[in-house]
Amino acid sequence: MGVIETVLLVISSCILCSVSLGISNAAPTSTYNVVNFGAKADGKTDCTKPFIKAWQSACSSLSPATIYVPKGRYLLGNTNFRGPCKRKVTFLIAGTLVAPEDYTALGNSGFWILFNHVENVVISGGKLDAKGAAFWNCRRSGKNCPVGARSMTFNWVNNLVISGITSVNSQLSHLVINTCNNVLVKNVKLIAPDQSPNTDGIHVELSTGVTINGCTMQTGDDCISIGDATYNLFMSNIKCGPGHGVSIGSLGKEMEEKGVENVTLTNAIFSGSDNGVRIKTWARPSNGFVRNVRFQNIIMDKVENPIIIDQNYCPNNQGCPGQTSGIKISQITYSNIKGSSATPEAVTFDCSPSNPCQGIKLQDINLSYNNKSATSSCKNIVGTSSGTLVPETNYTPPYLSKLLMASRSPL
Ligand SMILES: *[C@@H]1O[C@H](CO)[C@@H](O)[C@H](O)[C@H]1NC(C)=O
Ligand SMILES: *[C@@H]1O[C@H](CO)[C@@H](O)[C@H](O)[C@H]1NC(C)=O
Ligand SMILES: *[C@@H]1O[C@H](CO)[C@@H](O)[C@H](O)[C@H]1NC(C)=O
Repeated sequence: MGVIETVLLVISSCILCSVSLGISNAAPTSTYNVVNFGAKADGKTDCTKPFIKAWQSACSSLSPATIYVPKGRYLLGNTNFRGPCKRKVTFLIAGTLVAPEDYTALGNSGFWILFNHVENVVISGGKLDAKGAAFWNCRRSGKNCPVGARSMTFNWVNNLVISGITSVNSQLSHLVINTCNNVLVKNVKLIAPDQSPNTDGIHVELSTGVTINGCTMQTGDDCISIGDATYNLFMSNIKCGPGHGVSIGSLGKEMEEKGVENVTLTNAIFSGSDNGVRIKTWARPSNGFVRNVRFQNIIMDKVENPIIIDQNYCPNNQGCPGQTSGIKISQITYSNIKGSSATPEAVTFDCSPSNPCQGIKLQDINLSYNNKSATSSCKNIVGTSSGTLVPETNYTPPYLSKLLMASRSPL
């Protein structure tokens, strides 16, 4: 054995023994208070530089580091927290982060607070106030506006926990999980008025292993929107409304897509939202797919489209007239979904004529409209049903679904 190998062996056995003795766990956490880097909690002094300096110190710390944001209001412009970092970094926020009054200050970058290329991050507590109202007004007026900013974006972040944050009045989405692995979002509240344009609650895409638990969203667009290349997404204890529901899609705008697989939503309440559980695809050729999805234990309270698959999405009839969706939708289970629809049609399956939905399962569905059974419409689906089925579900030949028969004689 050469000298170098011997040295390496000694070093690696030291690391092993210190871990097994718990020494590394006992390493002190270094705390970096943003105030000590010059941040002022007056809501007026630009704190972008002090926050970045605190991040750089925490990020290069050789022990796990905590960045502490005390109570008060901190004005932040575009803020880019970039990794990689040496050890785990925790953001402990007691205060409120506020965006500049002038929405053009965030410019055309698309983000307000960005975490980028970093592993092992915890963000705990605090409030974000993006002051989006003036930006929405600009968009509604039809003037030329900047693209707008998402409040908190995570790009290439692995092992991430976001907990206990409240975000209000985002210009666009509140939270964006993009190209991330192993993420837990829990106990967050995301709030914007129901007429605010494109204020999605949480947008997930290109990400694997995301869990969203115990979150409340009242917002102007999707409560949770799920983009392409999302795998193993688990959502539970979700309250949504107002808002546009939990949506997979829009998918299939591009020919080359990676698909969405293994998505579960369990224990959710939708109140007064435009949709409940929705899958939406463009009516264009695409090689993408949606498979193995479960929507279960859901209460609908006056939801406009409680259950909907829409494969005919073609806004303004541009780029898709006369075409059909190439997205293949299969193994979608709807189980124990009860409550009321705000429109007569509570269940809508408008699947692609060239790629009918396969393996649609309905179990114990009971949706009413004005205290009477709601109606349903089904195009191009193949599936089964069991248990209660109100409304009964019909079908359009030639794809003879078993749904109607099954609803008359439970499986
Ligand atoms: C989806 O879940 C199945 C069953 O747990 C698993 O075998 C498969 O690898 C998952 N798909 C992805 C893309 O992780
Ligand atoms: C559906 O729900 C309504 C309202 O809760 C209830 O009265 C009715 O019995 C239910 N129908 C079935 C078939 O379970
Ligand atoms: C439905 O029935 C409930 C209980 O009987 C009643 O309170 C409610 O006003 C009715 N709703 C409608 C829209 O008729």
